Amino acid sequence: MDATVTATSFSTLIRTASHEQHTEAETSTFMSDLLGGRLGVDAYTRYTEQLWFVYRAMEDGAEALRNDPVAGPFIQPELMRTAELERDLAHLRGADWREGLEPLPATAVYADRVAECARTWPAGYIAHHYTRYLGDLSGGQIIRDKAERTWGFERKGDGVRFYVFEGISNPASFKRGYRELLDAVNADDLEKQRIVDECKRAFALNTAVFRELGEAFPLSA
Ligand code: HEM
Repeated sequence: MDATVTATSFSTLIRTASHEQHTEAETSTFMSDLLGGRLGVDAYTRYTEQLWFVYRAMEDGAEALRNDPVAGPFIQPELMRTAELERDLAHLRGADWREGLEPLPATAVYADRVAECARTWPAGYIAHHYTRYLGDLSGGQIIRDKAERTWGFERKGDGVRFYVFEGISNPASFKRGYRELLDAVNADDLEKQRIVDECKRAFALNTAVFRELGEAFPLSA
């Protein structure tokens, strides 16, 4: 048995194991340029489009997992983001936002992996759930603030609704509850290690999307 798995709570293990990749995602060229206010609203729009493909995979898969003994406890309606993303996209792209909308290749790979986990491996789905929703409740708030200032969206309004969790009045306490769910996850040590590995994969999938977005919006263009 792996001593690191048994000695440390699972929520701490998964956070620590993904720390390095978190820094990599956070400091990616695209994110740095976006948060540095160096990109136009078209880049922010393209990024929001990618999120829509990912969350649609995540949340289309959620319903069937509601009663799953492993992933079920994580499925919570107040986290759902698809409707918010669609409002944001209607604001950013217009009423016909869906027309001609295509994922970047890296986004298609990411969304496919999420859908595959939802279908075949509920514990793996938790890794994707954690990577996205806990991130949105944390760093997502920094992105919202920056987006409002840079492109003039109404505070917590259309364009940034993705980052506004109306059903979560206290994100810090929600995150504490989420970590308790992680610590109580219905999986043995080997499966927990596999979840950690899938979390690292989830971060890598995000970084790949940032890489393609960075190529699509080079600063020197
Ligand atoms: C520039 C972008 C980002 C910033 C500024 C940022 C910032 C932060 C901050 C400050 C926290 C700590 C919150 C706390 O301790 O409660 C956090 C946590 C987290 N972030 Fe990010 N983040 C960014 C991008 C990302 C990305 C791209 C992902 C993955 C897709 C991500 C996933 C996470 C996760 C999963 C956590 C929770 C860690 C835990 O407590 O277990 N973040 N982020």
